[in-house]
Amino acid sequence: MIKKATFLISNTDHTKCPTPDKPEFAFIGRSNVGKSSLINMLANNKNLAKTSGRPGKTQLINHFLVDERWYMVDLPGYGFAKVSKSIKADWEGMIQSYLNNRENLVALCVLIDSRLEPQKIDLEFITWCGENGIPIVLVFTKADKQSWPKTQSTIAKFIKASKAIFEEAPLYFVTSAENGKGKEELTGFIEEQVED
Ligand code: GTP
Ligand code: MG
Repeated sequence: MIKKATFLISNTDHTKCPTPDKPEFAFIGRSNVGKSSLINMLANNKNLAKTSGRPGKTQLINHFLVDERWYMVDLPGYGFAKVSKSIKADWEGMIQSYLNNRENLVALCVLIDSRLEPQKIDLEFITWCGENGIPIVLVFTKADKQSWPKTQSTIAKFIKASKAIFEEAPLYFVTSAENGKGKEELTGFIEEQVED
């Protein structure tokens, strides 16, 4: 479990991110899927990352230092319709160059809304990750919002829809920022990698 997490710095440029001397875990997914809320839930601090009911809240690469041992990164969402094409292209460029160049990135957590049918944009994004050799785990969010069988059905559909993308079925976690579901499993996974 996380004892202490502190905000370090926000960036648009991956070269200005903290020295890559610690294992890093980043969180991405569609705007409003719950990235910042999940980070706060994992860190037991509701005020660590800024959250909002309106999509498009997180616009920078945000680094947090966790227990002096690893970096947690809150990224902007993708698929946010309400920004101009040029801003969208800037965000995509920023995220892609961060992901392709951050040498200490151990895993990218790709958040998927557990209530939705498989979304084209998520499948496209994880295809891009596969093509670029970015190691990902899937994190299904907002599990408190519906029954467990419905969440299971979403997961099964997503795994099926993404079968062609992965050589091996991806590791996945089911979470809720509202009730803490999945906290032990996801932090346990991260801490295992940090120890190696
Ligand atoms: P952007 O930074 O805009 O890309 O969004 P984000 O993915 O960081 O989402 P954020 O954490 O800001 O949450 C978006 C909205 O979803 C907020 O209103 C949250 O309160 C809500 N939310 C996030 N996670 C959960 C969850 O697990 N359960 C419920 N019920 N609501 C959630
Ligand atoms: Mg956010």
